[in-house]
Amino acid sequence: MAGERPAVLFRQLFEPESSTFTYLLADPIRREAVLIDPVRETIERDIELLRELDLTLVHTLETHVHADHVTSSGTLRERLGSRSVVSAMGGAPCADVLVGEGDELLFGDRWLEVRATPGHTDGCVSYVLDDHSMVFTGDALLIRGTGRTDFQQGDPRRLYASVTTKLFTLPDDTRVFPAHDYRGMTSSTIGEEKAHNRRLGGGRSVDEFVAIMQSLRLADPKQIAEAVPANLACGVARVDGEPEPPADIEP
Ligand SMILES: [Fe+2]
Repeated sequence: MAGERPAVLFRQLFEPESSTFTYLLADPIRREAVLIDPVRETIERDIELLRELDLTLVHTLETHVHADHVTSSGTLRERLGSRSVVSAMGGAPCADVLVGEGDELLFGDRWLEVRATPGHTDGCVSYVLDDHSMVFTGDALLIRGTGRTDFQQGDPRRLYASVTTKLFTLPDDTRVFPAHDYRGMTSSTIGEEKAHNRRLGGGRSVDEFVAIMQSLRLADPKQIAEAVPANLACGVARVDGEPEPPADIEP
């Protein structure tokens, strides 16, 4: 029927070492795809899936410069010709496309809208599907939680503002897909998080949220020393010739 469009092709993928979700979205007619937060350790799986589904990878999208895993975006660019997308506030000079609030990233006839959601890091962005049916929140909004705010320019007041004004303003039935989950959850909805998020749901005030965040005592992510500099280089050698980190480094 005219005006009806087929559902976007969607896969939620998982990397167990860092409990990271990678998301594949594609236009089922034009066969163009994006990967959100692809991980170095699972690059062969992701390339095989793209090939099996007969998809052309046009963009890799980072929700932020990760501290807990190394991106595969630079290697995917080399092998598949995709373009690496990072927030203009993320400080990653390796990116092909720097994005900010309101930018749209096309794959076929579909697109993702960029919403700046800083607070976990300066350069955190969320990606909203064109029909508002899904939002990919990175570490800004997790299922019943949020990203930490104690390193990488973290700021709980900024994070509270980001979540409440950029994400909680989406429809209640928008499905929430975070960058991680450590309890076996896979998705949520905006309505669910507004009601039940332990840190900023149920009408919690910004001061309550700040107190919660300041009371957390978290260990650093296992891969932080390697991951942040590597991700600023899209996970591959820097332009000045600094070598790619060996693939067998233990986290
Ligand atoms: Fe993060």
